[in-house]
Amino acid sequence: MPLVHPFPDRFLWGAATSAHQVEGGNRANDWWRFEQRPGVIADGARSGDACAHWTRYDDDYALAQADGHNAFRLSIEWSRIEPERDHIDEAALAHYEAMLLALRARKLEPVVTLHHFTNPWWIAEAGGWENHDTIARFEKFVRLCARRFGGLVDWWCTVNEPEVLAFRAYSQGIWPPGRQDRSAALVVIAHLLEGHARAYRALHEEDRADADGDGRAVMAGMAKHHVILEPMRGWSPLDRALQHFEDAVFNRAVLRAPVTGHVALSIPGARTVDRRVMGLRDSLDYVGLNYYTRWKVAAGRSDPHVAAAGAPVNDLGWEVYPAGLEQAVLAMREFAKPVVVLENGVADKNDRLRPRALVQSLVHLKKAIDAGVPVRGYLHWSLLDNFEWSDGWRGRFGLYSVDFGDPKLPRTRTKSADLFARIARQNGIDRKELTDAGA
Ligand code: BGC
Repeated sequence: MPLVHPFPDRFLWGAATSAHQVEGGNRANDWWRFEQRPGVIADGARSGDACAHWTRYDDDYALAQADGHNAFRLSIEWSRIEPERDHIDEAALAHYEAMLLALRARKLEPVVTLHHFTNPWWIAEAGGWENHDTIARFEKFVRLCARRFGGLVDWWCTVNEPEVLAFRAYSQGIWPPGRQDRSAALVVIAHLLEGHARAYRALHEEDRADADGDGRAVMAGMAKHHVILEPMRGWSPLDRALQHFEDAVFNRAVLRAPVTGHVALSIPGARTVDRRVMGLRDSLDYVGLNYYTRWKVAAGRSDPHVAAAGAPVNDLGWEVYPAGLEQAVLAMREFAKPVVVLENGVADKNDRLRPRALVQSLVHLKKAIDAGVPVRGYLHWSLLDNFEWSDGWRGRFGLYSVDFGDPKLPRTRTKSADLFARIARQNGIDRKELTDAGA
Protein backbone atom coordinates (compact mmCIF):
# COMPACT_ATOMS: atom_id res chain seq x y z
CA MET A 1 0.00 0.00 0.00
CA PRO A 2 1.51 3.37 -0.93
CA LEU A 3 1.88 5.96 1.82
CA VAL A 4 -0.67 8.75 2.08
CA HIS A 5 2.12 11.33 2.29
CA PRO A 6 5.42 9.95 0.95
CA PHE A 7 8.51 12.11 1.50
CA PRO A 8 11.42 12.64 -0.93
CA ASP A 9 14.25 10.11 -1.14
CA ARG A 10 17.20 10.63 1.21
CA PHE A 11 15.10 12.91 3.39
CA LEU A 12 16.82 13.74 6.68
CA TRP A 13 14.75 12.74 9.71
CA GLY A 14 15.98 13.44 13.18
CA ALA A 15 16.01 15.53 16.32
CA ALA A 16 17.84 18.75 17.13
CA THR A 17 19.71 19.73 20.28
CA SER A 18 22.14 22.39 21.46
CA ALA A 19 25.16 21.84 23.66
CA HIS A 20 24.35 24.02 26.66
CA GLN A 21 20.78 22.79 26.85
CA VAL A 22 21.63 19.10 27.13
CA GLU A 23 25.31 18.48 27.89
CA GLY A 24 25.59 19.80 31.44
CA GLY A 25 28.54 20.70 33.60
CA ASN A 26 30.22 23.37 31.50
CA ARG A 27 31.09 26.48 33.48
CA ALA A 28 33.10 28.28 30.83
CA ASN A 29 30.36 30.21 29.04
CA ASP A 30 28.26 33.33 29.61
CA TRP A 31 25.09 31.35 30.26
CA TRP A 32 26.55 29.45 33.18
CA ARG A 33 27.51 32.74 34.82
CA PHE A 34 24.19 34.35 34.02
CA GLU A 35 22.23 31.48 35.58
CA GLN A 36 23.90 32.15 38.93
CA ARG A 37 22.16 35.55 39.16
CA PRO A 38 19.01 35.33 41.28
CA GLY A 39 15.70 35.80 39.51
CA VAL A 40 16.83 35.47 35.90
CA ILE A 41 15.61 31.91 35.23
CA ALA A 42 12.08 30.62 35.92
CA ASP A 43 11.84 28.90 39.32
CA GLY A 44 15.47 29.79 40.01
CA ALA A 45 16.57 26.88 37.77
CA ARG A 46 20.18 26.37 36.68
CA SER A 47 21.36 24.19 33.84
CA GLY A 48 23.62 22.17 36.18
CA ASP A 49 24.01 18.69 34.75
CA ALA A 50 21.19 19.37 32.25
CA CYS A 51 20.57 15.93 30.66
CA ALA A 52 24.14 14.74 31.33
CA HIS A 53 24.30 14.25 27.59
CA TRP A 54 28.04 15.03 27.65
CA THR A 55 28.62 11.57 29.08
CA ARG A 56 25.44 9.82 27.94
CA TYR A 57 25.48 10.93 24.32
CA ASP A 58 25.80 7.47 22.87
CA ASP A 59 22.80 6.11 24.81
CA ASP A 60 20.84 9.07 23.50
CA TYR A 61 22.00 8.45 19.94
CA ALA A 62 20.91 4.83 20.41
CA LEU A 63 17.38 6.06 21.11
CA ALA A 64 17.40 8.11 17.91
CA GLN A 65 18.81 5.24 15.90
CA ALA A 66 16.27 2.76 17.26
CA ASP A 67 13.57 5.24 16.28
CA GLY A 68 14.63 5.18 12.65
CA HIS A 69 16.22 8.65 12.63
CA ASN A 70 18.97 9.15 10.07
CA ALA A 71 20.21 12.59 11.19
CA PHE A 72 20.97 14.45 14.41
CA ARG A 73 21.58 18.13 15.08
CA LEU A 74 24.03 19.07 17.80
CA SER A 75 26.13 22.12 18.54
CA ILE A 76 29.81 22.31 19.30
CA GLU A 77 30.36 24.44 22.37
CA TRP A 78 33.04 27.02 21.63
CA SER A 79 33.71 27.53 25.34
CA ARG A 80 34.63 23.88 25.77
CA ILE A 81 37.04 23.93 22.83
CA GLU A 82 38.57 27.32 23.72
CA PRO A 83 37.83 27.88 27.42
CA GLU A 84 40.40 30.66 27.54
CA ARG A 85 41.62 32.92 24.79
CA ASP A 86 44.01 30.97 22.53
CA HIS A 87 43.95 27.95 24.81
CA ILE A 88 42.62 24.96 22.88
CA ASP A 89 41.39 22.07 24.97
CA GLU A 90 42.52 18.95 23.11
CA ALA A 91 40.42 16.70 25.32
CA ALA A 92 37.25 18.62 24.37
CA LEU A 93 38.14 18.35 20.68
CA ALA A 94 38.66 14.61 21.09
CA HIS A 95 35.35 14.34 22.93
CA TYR A 96 33.41 16.00 20.12
CA GLU A 97 35.24 13.83 17.64
CA ALA A 98 34.09 10.77 19.59
CA MET A 99 30.51 12.09 19.53
CA LEU A 100 30.64 12.58 15.77
CA LEU A 101 32.14 9.13 15.25
CA ALA A 102 29.39 7.66 17.42
CA LEU A 103 26.77 9.41 15.26
CA ARG A 104 28.36 8.05 12.08
CA ALA A 105 28.55 4.56 13.60
CA ARG A 106 24.82 4.76 14.23
CA LYS A 107 24.13 6.03 10.71
CA LEU A 108 22.98 9.41 12.00
CA GLU A 109 24.05 12.26 9.71
CA PRO A 110 25.47 15.01 11.94
CA VAL A 111 24.12 18.51 11.42
CA VAL A 112 26.54 20.68 13.35
CA THR A 113 25.83 24.15 14.70
CA LEU A 114 28.85 26.30 15.49
CA HIS A 115 27.15 28.99 17.55
CA HIS A 116 23.97 28.26 19.48
CA PHE A 117 23.48 31.30 21.73
CA THR A 118 26.35 30.72 24.18
CA ASN A 119 29.71 32.49 24.21
CA PRO A 120 32.94 31.60 25.97
CA TRP A 121 33.16 33.75 29.08
CA TRP A 122 36.33 35.46 27.83
CA ILE A 123 34.42 36.51 24.68
CA ALA A 124 31.50 37.82 26.76
CA GLU A 125 33.88 39.77 29.00
CA ALA A 126 35.39 41.44 25.94
CA GLY A 127 31.94 42.69 24.81
CA GLY A 128 30.52 39.57 23.13
CA TRP A 129 29.04 40.17 19.69
CA GLU A 130 28.94 43.92 20.20
CA ASN A 131 32.68 43.82 19.81
CA HIS A 132 33.69 43.54 16.15
CA ASP A 133 36.80 41.53 17.14
CA THR A 134 34.55 38.61 18.13
CA ILE A 135 33.97 37.94 14.43
CA ALA A 136 37.62 37.10 13.78
CA ARG A 137 37.81 35.02 16.97
CA PHE A 138 34.74 33.06 15.85
CA GLU A 139 36.20 32.53 12.40
CA LYS A 140 39.32 31.06 13.98
CA PHE A 141 37.21 28.64 16.02
CA VAL A 142 35.21 27.66 12.92
CA ARG A 143 38.40 26.98 10.94
CA LEU A 144 39.60 24.71 13.68
CA CYS A 145 36.29 22.80 13.71
CA ALA A 146 36.24 22.54 9.92
CA ARG A 147 39.77 21.12 9.82
CA ARG A 148 39.26 18.80 12.73
CA PHE A 149 35.73 17.55 12.03
CA GLY A 150 35.33 18.12 8.28
CA GLY A 151 35.96 14.44 7.56
CA LEU A 152 32.90 13.56 9.63
CA VAL A 153 30.59 16.48 8.90
CA ASP A 154 29.03 17.84 5.71
CA TRP A 155 26.01 19.70 7.10
CA TRP A 156 26.99 22.83 8.99
CA CYS A 157 24.87 25.51 10.61
CA THR A 158 27.06 28.53 11.27
CA VAL A 159 24.91 30.57 13.64
CA ASN A 160 21.59 29.82 15.29
CA GLU A 161 18.95 32.57 15.13
CA PRO A 162 20.98 35.81 15.27
CA GLU A 163 17.78 37.84 15.65
CA VAL A 164 16.46 35.83 18.61
CA LEU A 165 19.77 36.08 20.43
CA ALA A 166 19.98 39.82 19.81
CA PHE A 167 16.42 40.65 20.82
CA ARG A 168 16.37 38.50 23.93
CA ALA A 169 19.83 39.52 25.13
CA TYR A 170 19.96 43.19 24.09
CA SER A 171 16.40 44.39 23.64
CA GLN A 172 14.32 42.47 26.18
CA GLY A 173 17.43 41.97 28.29
CA ILE A 174 16.36 38.56 29.56
CA TRP A 175 19.42 36.63 28.32
CA PRO A 176 23.07 37.44 28.96
CA PRO A 177 24.37 40.07 29.05
CA GLY A 178 20.91 41.31 30.12
CA ARG A 179 20.98 44.68 28.39
CA GLN A 180 18.13 46.80 27.07
CA ASP A 181 19.63 48.69 24.19
CA ARG A 182 17.91 48.28 20.84
CA SER A 183 20.74 49.87 18.90
CA ALA A 184 23.12 47.32 20.39
CA ALA A 185 20.69 44.55 19.35
CA LEU A 186 20.94 45.61 15.71
CA VAL A 187 24.72 45.81 15.88
CA VAL A 188 24.79 42.30 17.35
CA ILE A 189 22.63 40.93 14.52
CA ALA A 190 24.90 42.59 11.96
CA HIS A 191 28.02 41.16 13.60
CA LEU A 192 26.51 37.69 13.83
CA LEU A 193 25.68 37.90 10.13
CA GLU A 194 29.25 38.91 9.42
CA GLY A 195 30.36 35.99 11.60
CA HIS A 196 28.14 33.75 9.49
CA ALA A 197 29.74 35.05 6.28
CA ARG A 198 33.25 34.40 7.56
CA ALA A 199 32.26 30.97 8.84
CA TYR A 200 30.65 30.09 5.52
CA ARG A 201 33.82 30.94 3.60
CA ALA A 202 36.04 29.23 6.18
CA LEU A 203 34.02 26.01 6.01
CA HIS A 204 34.29 25.91 2.23
CA GLU A 205 38.02 26.56 2.37
CA GLU A 206 38.92 24.12 5.12
CA ASP A 207 36.48 21.22 4.78
CA ARG A 208 37.21 19.40 1.53
CA ALA A 209 36.08 15.97 2.69
CA ASP A 210 32.78 14.60 1.41
CA ALA A 211 31.78 12.66 4.51
CA ASP A 212 28.46 11.27 3.27
CA GLY A 213 29.53 10.53 -0.30
CA ASP A 214 26.90 12.67 -2.03
CA GLY A 215 29.45 14.65 -4.00
CA ARG A 216 29.46 17.71 -1.72
CA ALA A 217 31.91 18.30 1.09
CA VAL A 218 30.00 21.18 2.65
CA MET A 219 26.38 22.26 2.97
CA ALA A 220 26.51 25.38 5.09
CA GLY A 221 23.66 27.59 6.18
CA MET A 222 22.36 29.36 9.23
CA ALA A 223 19.25 28.78 11.33
CA LYS A 224 16.57 31.42 10.99
CA HIS A 225 13.64 31.60 13.37
CA HIS A 226 10.47 32.30 11.42
CA VAL A 227 7.32 33.32 13.22
CA ILE A 228 3.93 33.72 11.58
CA LEU A 229 2.68 37.23 12.34
CA GLU A 230 -0.87 38.40 11.67
CA PRO A 231 -2.65 41.60 12.68
CA MET A 232 -4.86 40.99 15.69
CA ARG A 233 -7.62 43.18 14.26
CA GLY A 234 -7.56 42.98 10.50
CA TRP A 235 -9.39 46.29 10.27
CA SER A 236 -6.86 48.19 12.37
CA PRO A 237 -4.29 50.13 10.33
CA LEU A 238 -2.04 50.24 13.42
CA ASP A 239 -2.06 46.49 13.93
CA ARG A 240 -1.49 45.96 10.24
CA ALA A 241 1.37 48.42 10.13
CA LEU A 242 3.07 46.86 13.14
CA GLN A 243 2.63 43.35 11.73
CA HIS A 244 4.04 44.41 8.39
CA PHE A 245 6.99 46.10 9.97
CA GLU A 246 7.86 43.24 12.35
CA ASP A 247 7.56 40.71 9.55
CA ALA A 248 9.93 42.76 7.42
CA VAL A 249 12.59 43.09 10.12
CA PHE A 250 12.32 39.83 12.02
CA ASN A 251 11.36 37.39 9.29
CA ARG A 252 12.80 38.83 6.10
CA ALA A 253 15.66 41.28 6.55
CA VAL A 254 17.91 38.85 8.42
CA LEU A 255 17.68 36.11 5.77
CA ARG A 256 17.97 38.53 2.91
CA ALA A 257 21.37 39.60 4.13
CA PRO A 258 23.24 36.36 3.30
CA VAL A 259 21.58 36.37 -0.13
CA THR A 260 22.17 39.97 -1.11
CA GLY A 261 25.24 40.77 1.00
CA HIS A 262 23.45 43.81 2.37
CA VAL A 263 22.49 44.15 6.05
CA ALA A 264 19.56 46.56 6.36
CA LEU A 265 17.99 46.65 9.82
CA SER A 266 15.82 49.33 11.25
CA ILE A 267 13.48 49.42 14.27
CA PRO A 268 12.00 52.36 16.18
CA GLY A 269 14.21 53.79 18.87
CA ALA A 270 17.39 52.32 17.42
CA ARG A 271 20.19 53.48 15.16
CA THR A 272 19.62 51.93 11.73
CA VAL A 273 22.20 49.49 10.40
CA ASP A 274 22.67 49.69 6.67
CA ARG A 275 25.84 48.21 5.26
CA ARG A 276 27.34 45.82 2.75
CA VAL A 277 29.37 43.05 4.30
CA MET A 278 32.23 41.47 2.45
CA GLY A 279 31.71 37.78 1.73
CA LEU A 280 28.09 37.79 2.88
CA ARG A 281 26.52 37.76 -0.54
CA ASP A 282 25.40 34.28 -1.63
CA SER A 283 26.56 32.63 1.57
CA LEU A 284 23.83 30.04 2.00
CA ASP A 285 23.90 26.52 0.59
CA TYR A 286 20.57 25.91 2.25
CA VAL A 287 18.11 27.78 4.43
CA GLY A 288 17.84 26.45 7.98
CA LEU A 289 14.33 27.09 9.23
CA ASN A 290 13.19 27.05 12.85
CA TYR A 291 9.44 27.36 13.21
CA TYR A 292 7.30 27.18 16.35
CA THR A 293 4.30 29.48 16.43
CA ARG A 294 2.03 32.25 15.23
CA TRP A 295 1.41 35.51 17.03
CA LYS A 296 -1.38 37.97 16.59
CA VAL A 297 0.09 41.44 16.63
CA ALA A 298 -1.78 44.14 18.56
CA ALA A 299 -0.42 47.68 18.51
CA GLY A 300 -0.37 49.76 21.67
CA ARG A 301 0.25 46.98 24.19
CA SER A 302 3.37 46.53 26.27
CA ASP A 303 3.67 43.05 24.75
CA PRO A 304 2.08 43.26 21.29
CA HIS A 305 2.21 39.47 20.70
CA VAL A 306 -0.78 37.40 21.75
CA ALA A 307 -1.98 33.91 20.95
CA ALA A 308 -5.15 33.80 18.82
CA ALA A 309 -8.29 33.72 20.98
CA GLY A 310 -9.35 30.17 21.80
CA ALA A 311 -6.37 28.61 20.03
CA PRO A 312 -4.53 25.67 21.62
CA VAL A 313 -1.36 26.84 23.35
CA ASN A 314 1.71 24.96 24.54
CA ASP A 315 3.09 24.99 28.10
CA LEU A 316 4.83 28.30 27.40
CA GLY A 317 1.65 29.95 26.08
CA TRP A 318 2.66 29.78 22.40
CA GLU A 319 -0.07 28.91 19.93
CA VAL A 320 0.18 25.41 18.46
CA TYR A 321 -0.31 26.21 14.79
CA PRO A 322 0.91 23.43 12.47
CA ALA A 323 -0.26 25.16 9.28
CA GLY A 324 2.37 27.79 10.01
CA LEU A 325 5.12 25.36 9.07
CA GLU A 326 3.76 25.18 5.54
CA GLN A 327 3.47 28.97 5.40
CA ALA A 328 6.99 29.40 6.72
CA VAL A 329 8.47 26.96 4.21
CA LEU A 330 6.57 28.62 1.36
CA ALA A 331 7.95 31.99 2.50
CA MET A 332 11.45 30.56 1.96
CA ARG A 333 10.82 30.25 -1.80
CA GLU A 334 12.05 33.79 -2.15
CA PHE A 335 15.61 32.58 -1.41
CA ALA A 336 15.61 29.81 -4.04
CA LYS A 337 17.67 27.42 -1.90
CA PRO A 338 17.05 23.99 -0.44
CA VAL A 339 15.38 24.18 2.97
CA VAL A 340 16.08 22.10 6.04
CA VAL A 341 13.73 22.42 9.00
CA LEU A 342 16.32 22.64 11.76
CA GLU A 343 13.78 23.04 14.58
CA ASN A 344 10.07 22.56 15.10
CA GLY A 345 8.35 21.30 18.21
CA VAL A 346 5.93 21.81 21.08
CA ALA A 347 6.62 22.45 24.77
CA ASP A 348 4.21 19.90 26.16
CA LYS A 349 5.22 18.15 29.37
CA ASN A 350 2.45 15.58 29.20
CA ASP A 351 2.64 14.97 25.44
CA ARG A 352 -1.00 15.95 25.14
CA LEU A 353 -0.95 18.26 22.12
CA ARG A 354 2.33 17.17 20.55
CA PRO A 355 1.33 13.92 18.77
CA ARG A 356 -1.36 15.63 16.74
CA ALA A 357 0.69 18.77 16.20
CA LEU A 358 3.66 16.73 15.02
CA VAL A 359 1.73 14.74 12.45
CA GLN A 360 -0.20 17.78 11.25
CA SER A 361 3.01 19.78 10.94
CA LEU A 362 4.51 17.06 8.77
CA VAL A 363 1.39 16.93 6.60
CA HIS A 364 1.77 20.67 6.10
CA LEU A 365 5.46 20.28 5.39
CA LYS A 366 4.61 17.74 2.69
CA LYS A 367 2.18 20.21 1.14
CA ALA A 368 4.96 22.75 0.87
CA ILE A 369 7.18 20.11 -0.75
CA ASP A 370 4.40 19.28 -3.20
CA ALA A 371 4.18 22.98 -4.00
CA GLY A 372 7.77 22.78 -5.21
CA VAL A 373 10.00 23.79 -2.29
CA PRO A 374 13.07 21.51 -2.15
CA VAL A 375 12.94 20.54 1.53
CA ARG A 376 15.81 18.23 2.46
CA GLY A 377 15.06 17.36 6.06
CA TYR A 378 13.06 17.80 9.25
CA LEU A 379 14.77 17.89 12.64
CA HIS A 380 12.37 17.92 15.55
CA TRP A 381 13.11 20.05 18.58
CA SER A 382 14.08 18.13 20.58
CA LEU A 383 15.20 14.58 21.37
CA LEU A 384 15.09 15.22 25.13
CA ASP A 385 13.46 17.64 27.51
CA ASN A 386 16.23 20.11 28.21
CA PHE A 387 17.28 23.42 29.74
CA GLU A 388 14.98 25.91 28.05
CA TRP A 389 17.06 29.07 28.62
CA SER A 390 15.20 31.62 30.78
CA ASP A 391 12.22 29.26 31.03
CA GLY A 392 14.44 26.77 32.83
CA TRP A 393 12.69 23.38 33.10
CA ARG A 394 9.27 24.75 32.18
CA GLY A 395 9.50 24.20 28.44
CA ARG A 396 9.50 20.43 27.87
CA PHE A 397 10.13 19.84 24.18
CA GLY A 398 11.44 16.25 24.30
CA LEU A 399 10.35 13.28 22.25
CA TYR A 400 11.75 11.66 25.38
CA SER A 401 10.79 13.29 28.63
CA VAL A 402 13.47 13.61 31.30
CA ASP A 403 12.84 13.53 35.04
CA PHE A 404 15.16 16.27 36.27
CA GLY A 405 14.19 15.53 39.88
CA ASP A 406 15.78 12.09 39.72
CA PRO A 407 19.60 12.10 39.86
CA LYS A 408 19.63 9.31 37.27
CA LEU A 409 17.86 11.64 34.82
CA PRO A 410 15.74 8.85 33.34
CA ARG A 411 14.46 9.27 29.78
CA THR A 412 10.87 8.21 29.09
CA ARG A 413 9.54 7.58 25.63
CA THR A 414 6.46 9.55 24.55
CA LYS A 415 3.72 8.70 22.11
CA SER A 416 5.17 11.42 19.88
CA ALA A 417 8.49 9.57 19.76
CA ASP A 418 6.65 6.50 18.61
CA LEU A 419 4.70 8.31 15.88
CA PHE A 420 7.81 10.09 14.68
CA ALA A 421 9.71 6.80 14.58
CA ARG A 422 7.10 5.23 12.35
CA ILE A 423 7.11 8.19 10.00
CA ALA A 424 10.92 8.31 9.83
CA ARG A 425 11.24 4.57 9.22
CA GLN A 426 8.75 4.50 6.37
CA ASN A 427 9.83 7.92 5.03
CA GLY A 428 6.32 9.27 5.05
CA ILE A 429 2.94 9.37 6.71
CA ASP A 430 0.36 6.66 6.50
CA ARG A 431 -3.30 6.53 7.44
CA LYS A 432 -2.40 4.84 10.72
CA GLU A 433 -0.37 7.81 11.95
CA LEU A 434 -3.13 10.20 10.91
CA THR A 435 -5.69 8.16 12.85
CA ASP A 436 -3.50 7.56 15.89
CA ALA A 437 -2.67 11.24 16.18
CA GLY A 438 -6.25 12.34 15.56
CA ALA A 439 -4.92 14.38 12.69
C1 BGC B 1 16.18 27.82 20.00
C2 BGC B 1 16.27 26.66 20.97
C3 BGC B 1 15.10 26.69 21.93
C4 BGC B 1 13.82 26.60 21.13
C5 BGC B 1 12.56 26.56 21.96
C6 BGC B 1 14.78 28.10 19.47
O1 BGC B 1 14.61 29.46 19.33
O2 BGC B 1 17.08 27.66 18.96
O3 BGC B 1 17.49 26.72 21.62
O4 BGC B 1 15.16 25.71 22.90
O5 BGC B 1 13.72 27.73 20.28
O6 BGC B 1 12.38 27.75 22.66
